[in-house]
Amino acid sequence: MTPMDPISERIVDATEANITRAAELIVQGKLVAFPTETVYGLGADATNQRAVAAVFAAKDRPTFNPLIVHTAERKDAEALVRFNGLALSQVARALAETFWPGALTIVLPRAEGSTVSLLVSAGLDSLAVRVPDHAAALALLGRAGRPIAAPSANRAGAVSPTNADHVAISLGDRVDMVLDSGPCRIGLESTVIDLTGEKPVLLRPGGIAQEVIEAAIEMPLLLLSEADASRPAKSPGLMGRHYAPTVPLRLEAEGAEPGEALLAFGPEAPRRGALNLSRRGDLEEAAANLFAMLRLLDQSGVRGIAVMPIPERGLGRAINDRLRRAAATGDDGGD
Ligand code: TXA
Ligand code: MG
Repeated sequence: MTPMDPISERIVDATEANITRAAELIVQGKLVAFPTETVYGLGADATNQRAVAAVFAAKDRPTFNPLIVHTAERKDAEALVRFNGLALSQVARALAETFWPGALTIVLPRAEGSTVSLLVSAGLDSLAVRVPDHAAALALLGRAGRPIAAPSANRAGAVSPTNADHVAISLGDRVDMVLDSGPCRIGLESTVIDLTGEKPVLLRPGGIAQEVIEAAIEMPLLLLSEADASRPAKSPGLMGRHYAPTVPLRLEAEGAEPGEALLAFGPEAPRRGALNLSRRGDLEEAAANLFAMLRLLDQSGVRGIAVMPIPERGLGRAINDRLRRAAATGDDGGD
């Protein structure tokens, strides 16, 4: 496909041959919109930082919201996250067994040494995983042979697409292929449950009703507002929805002060004691590197991280949003 193809030619029926082509595109780091039982997803190789950055760029999001990672098999999803030693390990297993494949997304700590891009979960230590209940989605995942990160396939602020035309109208030529298999059966996003804490928290109501989930696990779900209220102030670790380094961030810096590391951007930046988000000044490359570089610097034993100015356009807006939240102490932002 070239950028010149009209969008109508990118919408293809979800036939075997087209699903195979779609899987090849995913492996090449391209974006493919695909049907699930809930809504259409904008899919990218979850292990490819640049492809994940392209998802955020296509959606025109002013923020990096963490994305859901989809797999074809329960065991593949389970391999991406950590179960052992959690208060809710049993609950996680029961939910996966009962509701997958299906419209339930589970948030758990990411597995040690995971190859899933840090940008997928916006730098958080957790990962949202789901096995969709849709033949074309499962075939695509199986053939791509890797986890696929997929938010709903709409621009920021628009409603989730439940057919291929909605995707085309919202994303136009920002997607390399749209696999069409008609309207989505459920038409509502998946229910998202956070199992990283002591109690299960309903992060987003969705395709599987709260009562049905509560009956399956024989315990109540906390609502996000209740969970927030019970969370100790200044303890963003447990449920923190935003990545924050342990050392202070200083924004709009010209260079590093003694004891600081520099998170640089652009061709003019100093090289000493610095990591450069993108020497070429490419904001998608910068987004792809953001969380991984912040973590590296945070773990390097410095007293603080000085961050050079990032242009407030394109993905630069989302990068700056996350940097401002990470720099603000005692603030957990919210979405
Ligand atoms: O039905 C669905 O879930 C669709 C289809 C394509 O699977 N996907 C979808 O993705 O709705 P998206 O990106 O539009 O919504 C993802 C939701 C957001 O509310 C996000 O905050 C939450 O999942 N989420 C993802 N990862 C998370 C994490 N690590 N911690 C907390 N929340 C997370
Ligand atoms: Mg969405």
